[in-house]
Amino acid sequence: MSATCQDGAVARLILERDRELGVLTEAVRAAQHGAGCVALVFGEAGIGKSCVVEALRARVPARGRMLVGYCDDLATKRALGPFRDLAGSAGTALTLAVQDGGDRDRLFAALRAELEGPPTPTVLVIEDVHWADDATLDALRFLIRRITRLPAVLVLTYRDDEVGNTHPLHQLLGQAAGMAAVHRLPLRRLSADAVRQLGGERPVDVARILAVTSGNPFFVTEVLAAGGGDTVPHTIVQAVLARVRHLDESTREVVEQLAVVPSALDRWLVDALVPGGPPALLAAEQRGCWPSPPNGSRSATS
Ligand SMILES: Nc1ncnc2c1ncn2[C@@H]1O[C@H](COP(=O)(O)OP(=O)(O)OP(=O)(O)O)[C@@H](O)[C@H]1O
Ligand SMILES: [Mg+2]
Repeated sequence: MSATCQDGAVARLILERDRELGVLTEAVRAAQHGAGCVALVFGEAGIGKSCVVEALRARVPARGRMLVGYCDDLATKRALGPFRDLAGSAGTALTLAVQDGGDRDRLFAALRAELEGPPTPTVLVIEDVHWADDATLDALRFLIRRITRLPAVLVLTYRDDEVGNTHPLHQLLGQAAGMAAVHRLPLRRLSADAVRQLGGERPVDVARILAVTSGNPFFVTEVLAAGGGDTVPHTIVQAVLARVRHLDESTREVVEQLAVVPSALDRWLVDALVPGGPPALLAAEQRGCWPSPPNGSRSATS
């Protein structure tokens, strides 16, 4: 079964997400009969969280609906930001309650009423909850506690490698961990077969693309779009620099030192180059700046 994800006017092929889409589709079916649940879709930047969510849209029954709100990477957080996005798609009571965000009881009641429907089932997607403001996290905790009695699926997407030990999202994840009606859907990097398929008719060096992208779908599609050649596409440069800019100074220094090595890095070389050795690297990993490959090995490309 192949799925597609709408990217503006272009329909993109989504590969190797059958299991996740199957779980989500089944969750929507159960919600239709009044048994709601939470789905956690997570993984590193570019792994395909938004694509999975978009592909789910086509599987929501015609009498149901999908609502999507976004948390943003802002210096000053937008209170209840993702719920503000629902204005125009959700009912008036919720829209007004969000605008008057000070009355929490009113907001929570409006949220619950919105998901009770009709229309049903509702798939409520809150994207990028690693950037959620506190008021949004409170509202989500309220919903999670009651979700099994609502005809709704609450889908939360997040970058798990940006959720350090003290991140506020942990309280919500801990709450969800204790529930039976929670689907955890970590997304995997793409295989060689998928890279070959995305290359289409063009002759592509699959091994090389996998080596430089580790199978991250965003990197794979950008490298393929750039012809699979030796230059790093501008889009990838921007994405990597955006992440490096978020690091603290000492971690950034580590990354800059390692980046001058022109090829793959083995762990022994990292240990020799990074002042302070493994603890500094560990701290960098916890801050999400050093991607751990799926097989747990420590070699990486600079
Ligand atoms: N399963 C897939 N098969 C093929 N291509 C994919 C797949 N998943 C994602 N892609 C490609 O990777 C790009 C990035 O995916 P997407 O925006 O969904 O990532 P994301 O996890 O939401 O990233 P972010 O954390 O930055 O929001 C897509 O535009 C698409 O081209
Ligand atoms: Mg996304």
